[in-house]
Amino acid sequence: MAHALRGKIQVPGDKSISHRGIMLGAIAEGKTELYGFLDGADCRSSIACFRQMGIEILQERDHATICGRGLHGLSQPRETLDVGNSGTTARLISGILAGQRFFSSLTGDASIRRRPMDRIMNPLNTMGARIRSRNGNGCAPLDIAPAVLRGIDYLSPVASAQIKSSVLLAGLYAKGKTSLTEPAKSRDHSERMLRAFGADLTQDGLTVTISPDPTLVGQKIQVPGDISSAAYWIAAASISPGSEIIIENVNVNPTRDGILRVAKAMGADIERLNPRIVSREPVADLLVRSASLRGTRIDGSIIPTLIDEIPVIALMAACAEGETIIADARELRVKESDRIESIVTNLSAMGVSVTGTEDGMIIRGGPSLKGAEIATRHDHRIAMTFSIASLVADGPVLLDDPSCVRISYPDFYRSLRFLLS
Ligand code: S3P
Repeated sequence: MAHALRGKIQVPGDKSISHRGIMLGAIAEGKTELYGFLDGADCRSSIACFRQMGIEILQERDHATICGRGLHGLSQPRETLDVGNSGTTARLISGILAGQRFFSSLTGDASIRRRPMDRIMNPLNTMGARIRSRNGNGCAPLDIAPAVLRGIDYLSPVASAQIKSSVLLAGLYAKGKTSLTEPAKSRDHSERMLRAFGADLTQDGLTVTISPDPTLVGQKIQVPGDISSAAYWIAAASISPGSEIIIENVNVNPTRDGILRVAKAMGADIERLNPRIVSREPVADLLVRSASLRGTRIDGSIIPTLIDEIPVIALMAACAEGETIIADARELRVKESDRIESIVTNLSAMGVSVTGTEDGMIIRGGPSLKGAEIATRHDHRIAMTFSIASLVADGPVLLDDPSCVRISYPDFYRSLRFLLS
């Protein structure tokens, strides 16, 4: 039984930009105001960590005020910092902690303690940092000893904004310039925001260079809606016949808009309305109508621009005619869950013909999805993807942990009910 979606909604603030606003606000001079802040569990973890380092942060719903204390204004946390489920908090904050004059430790939930941190420890320790994985397995808990950093030229093996941002943040505390070259362009919110706060940062193709010791000045930032949250409604409206929705105020930064390009290649009916620039980020309203989709191939340099949307793109592929091949997406293996495994297991449970590969999957679209029990692996993006799948399933879809949507989209089910009403 398909359900049409109708209406106009706003999605919560961008998660990546919200984290960065807290972090740069904390190490800037003076007050930073974030409007449209994402009040989700991950960004709350970032707030809690900086509060533990003496930064006053007032946050109510989607408004946060950070009373920055300058580049050297953090104080030693008394307890281990807890990043919860947030990889962005863990990796970016490590870049800041690497250059402090105090000792700190950091840990997180079971998922975080399985995710690779050597990818940031390697470049940071090359800069002179003294970060150690306590269990020697390249994962959190991390112990970070005081260190004097020097700038390096780092060739990152992975197109990861978290690695890039971690190294750039450490570069603020280093002697000499720090540059990083990535194999494909990952999201550039750190670069845009560092410049807005007053950092000296230059860009040359896939290389970013930052100068140390700037005076960062607190900013007023309007956080745009998160395209990764909008993705669920883009998919839902596309696959549910008779749908027509508008998603207002969505960040369409070209390093994030891969889902729009892929959806279009699949035959989706999406219009970008009212394009504008808000706090240095491109924003638009998205008009989405249902459409018949066809399979496509997704690989190469587009992958980093849609990495978090692959679960819901896989669902669109399951509802499309023909085959979809996703490759070069090995990074999915080290997200909140092994998302290749999570997607393949759950789509298979719904009767979809799907084969996992080392770095992606092959999905053969079919006429209908069966009801199934979904193993979310406590992964918010898997929970939201399969909640959307329930709209086109011919039986009940039961999630083992729907509450994990609180990580990035606490109002997800309320918005779903609204669009269906
Ligand atoms: C993020 C970068 C991406 C993304 C994550 C958020 C960020 O991770 O998957 O959800 O805010 O920098 P990688 O940089 O590891 O690809």
